[in-house]
Amino acid sequence: MRHTNWKVVTLACLFAAATMPAQIASQQVPSQPEASGQIWWKHAVVYEIYPRSFQDSNGDGTGDLNGIAQRLGYLESLGIDAIWIAPMYPSPQVDFGYDISDYENVDPQYGTLADFDRLMAEAKAHRIRVVLDMVLNHTSDKHKWFIESASSRTNPKHDWYVWRDPKGFTPEGKPIPPNNWISGFGGSAWEYNPKRKQFYYHNFYKQQPDLNWRNPEVERAMFDTMRFWLDKGVAGFRLDAIPTLFEDERLRDEPVLGGTNAQGDPILSDIYTNNLPEVHDTIRRMRATADKYPGNRVLIGETYLPNTAELDKWYGGEKHDEVQLPMDMLLGFANHLDANSFRQRLTEVETQVHGSQPLLVFDNHDNIRSWDRYGDGAHNQQIAKIVAALLLTPKATALLYQGQELGQPTTIPTRVEDVKDPIGRTGWPKEKGRDGERTPMQWDASNDQAGFSSKSKTWLPVPPNYQRINVKSEVADPDSMLNWYKQLIALRRDNPAVHDGGMVMLDRENASVLSYARIDPDRKAVVVSLNMTAQPQTVSLDLKAAGVNGGTVRTLMASDGSLVSATSAEGLTLPPFSSWIASVQ
Ligand code: GLC
Repeated sequence: MRHTNWKVVTLACLFAAATMPAQIASQQVPSQPEASGQIWWKHAVVYEIYPRSFQDSNGDGTGDLNGIAQRLGYLESLGIDAIWIAPMYPSPQVDFGYDISDYENVDPQYGTLADFDRLMAEAKAHRIRVVLDMVLNHTSDKHKWFIESASSRTNPKHDWYVWRDPKGFTPEGKPIPPNNWISGFGGSAWEYNPKRKQFYYHNFYKQQPDLNWRNPEVERAMFDTMRFWLDKGVAGFRLDAIPTLFEDERLRDEPVLGGTNAQGDPILSDIYTNNLPEVHDTIRRMRATADKYPGNRVLIGETYLPNTAELDKWYGGEKHDEVQLPMDMLLGFANHLDANSFRQRLTEVETQVHGSQPLLVFDNHDNIRSWDRYGDGAHNQQIAKIVAALLLTPKATALLYQGQELGQPTTIPTRVEDVKDPIGRTGWPKEKGRDGERTPMQWDASNDQAGFSSKSKTWLPVPPNYQRINVKSEVADPDSMLNWYKQLIALRRDNPAVHDGGMVMLDRENASVLSYARIDPDRKAVVVSLNMTAQPQTVSLDLKAAGVNGGTVRTLMASDGSLVSATSAEGLTLPPFSSWIASVQ
């Protein structure tokens, strides 16, 4: 099983003015009551929906927009603030929607624009905002822009993609790619086009040609598509693969680091294809575009970065004028349950981003689920409760991925012929692809498709564990993962210290237990202690030194019954892998 994060391993190596009339905008923006001075995304829980796998409403075995609409009641009861919908635009589906052929429509598989408008209205009625996925690095090779660009060297869009002459020709007359760059999905990042007699660059599949962001027409066209959705009232965008917009103009070869990756390609340093400084000017203009709209529209970045200093640049540093919420991938994808390392990463992201808001994330549609990445095989449920607490109790915005709240495990295909994700076919058996984390949402045990679909053959199979792990049965079980998530989300909404309080690390030398306090302006606090080991651990938390008023504690949430009656944070024994959250009186 893949226990590493494909992005951190693969991508870190490889790439590792609104024209809308104001009254229309305000009509369409969700009008959730917001206490004055509060910005919705600062306290939000954003829930990622992978539309193929959330809910199928028309019995074709694939999820769709009307399916999402049917499940809004569930999402509201979970307490989330916004949904991020992975790409639902027209697409040949080579990369399951991340290869877009029309940015201003809905793929017929998922519904229609009218369905989208209805979903927006219904989401608003459930007090849920809608964030869309915006794929700016590349389009599909079936997008009309690329078709035109590929048609000649002189057409009006000839420079919309990254075209280059061959470096030369082999003795057999085969064109040689311009440099050594490798695609994140395997093989050379250059594809030859016999018509233009040139190569085009693709950071991902060859069906995903990279746009040329050095051409201002590209920026204009893409910002227009963003306005199209902002005009419809979307709350913002998750910016796909955003650090890879620019490539080195001189096309210098990337340094070879040695060894080969799962796809059999040499491992390169990605200094000329990832996180180039030029990107920040573009992002500042993008932010200014979004800021012209009312309602605090948000930009969320898919930002796999090497360290917190780089992450800070994506916020715009002290100017705060770029992405409001670049994802911190360093904490959630550390992939090692370790109190010291989490303490350090949490401290960094809370204190080294010029007061910007951290965005924590442990799961998405690209990585083995945290259930398996952090689980030890024996205490997965307890460990997943620690992960949930770590996601939802710090001073941070939280991103969760469908099924995470159920403790849905990863179900990796066992036969290459069953694999749907192309990188799993080309990389088999070293890289089995991302199907495992994309299996359908498990709603109930009413049929073999876990209530996801009425069709017996769903696009990816529903694993047999749906009988036990599903929304319906977990709603009924007070100790379930789902109820743990619900309580945590309610706590961060209702408890002023957890909602908006400051954050102080406690017991900083403890290598086994991570403890911190959230403190509100009246110095009232909530204490969180997470035992990250398989042994019981006794902690003594010095609350006074942390500036907390009071000393008597009252357990608010505990993953182990023995902690429910705790009255003091001194000499408290935490059972193996237990989580304890208490208010201080
Ligand atoms: C992002 C998406 C991933 C996709 C890739 C190319 O990383 O999360 O699913 O394959 O971009 O668009």
